Amino acid sequence: EAELLHTFKGIPFTTRSSPELLKSLDTFDAREDDVLLVSYPKSGTHWLAGVLAKLYNTQVTITSPIEFGDISRLEELNKLSSKRIIPTHLDYNMLPPNFKKKKCKMIYISRNPKDTAVSMFHYYRDNPNLPTVDTWTAFFDLFLKGNVVCGSWFDHFLSWEEHEDENNILFLFYEDMKKVVKEICLFLSLNVSDNDIQDICRKSSFLEMKNDTEKENSDPSHTVCALTSNRKLIFRKGAVGDWKNYFTPKQNIRFQEIFNEKMKLSKMADSFIYEC
Ligand code: A3P
Repeated sequence: EAELLHTFKGIPFTTRSSPELLKSLDTFDAREDDVLLVSYPKSGTHWLAGVLAKLYNTQVTITSPIEFGDISRLEELNKLSSKRIIPTHLDYNMLPPNFKKKKCKMIYISRNPKDTAVSMFHYYRDNPNLPTVDTWTAFFDLFLKGNVVCGSWFDHFLSWEEHEDENNILFLFYEDMKKVVKEICLFLSLNVSDNDIQDICRKSSFLEMKNDTEKENSDPSHTVCALTSNRKLIFRKGAVGDWKNYFTPKQNIRFQEIFNEKMKLSKMADSFIYEC
């Protein structure tokens, strides 16, 4: 149970990310045309990966997350001949420095942390790779303390937001996802017609993606999250504001106090306040 997680540079990882791999990330060879797909878990990573795959059609490979596996991972990624879209849940500070030096394009997707917390609670309960949590109350405390896989949501978001003004990083919000496909095309310099964009949005709706997975049309072993390779765990409810079904009024006040304190210097904090 306790062995399911280990800590590296103060951040909890699952044993699916080996310490040797994490240590060797510093020397990873980035390519100028790599695109990073960055998120804290449960923020819409798979949704975004689905859209990207459709936008590029065939010439790209969406790899499994860079921090997933053992030391042989980096070699594998090196061998890929196609353009790479590389998912990661790493904090900005842990990102292989070569991605920064080469100014690779990075897309950071985030989501209201209250909904992220609820989504992650369910994920902890359903995912055998993660420690068991008994109650929502217990998980709520772990989440606020950052005592969960990938560490504190606040630290993660803020480490990336610090680089908001760098034009090789695009910030997207789960709550906007119906509007953002056009923005992604512009950022990645992709020429996609309005008709195709409409089509892609339709095929990337929550239900379509969930059904695809159930039909096993998609490679069942391929997820863009380092915490599971079971796609059935990913498509749960896909709602905005599900947190209201879980947070007690007291929990909401406590969360909001911590949010206001931690995020006081954040320029993007308002993006999460949609419907509080
Ligand atoms: P819920 O648990 O709230 O349903 P990630 O891909 O980063 O692990 O995030 C998973 C969350 O995104 C889950 O949230 C999942 O249901 C939701 N999701 C996945 N695909 C989606 C889509 N096409 N539209 C809306 N939500 C989606």
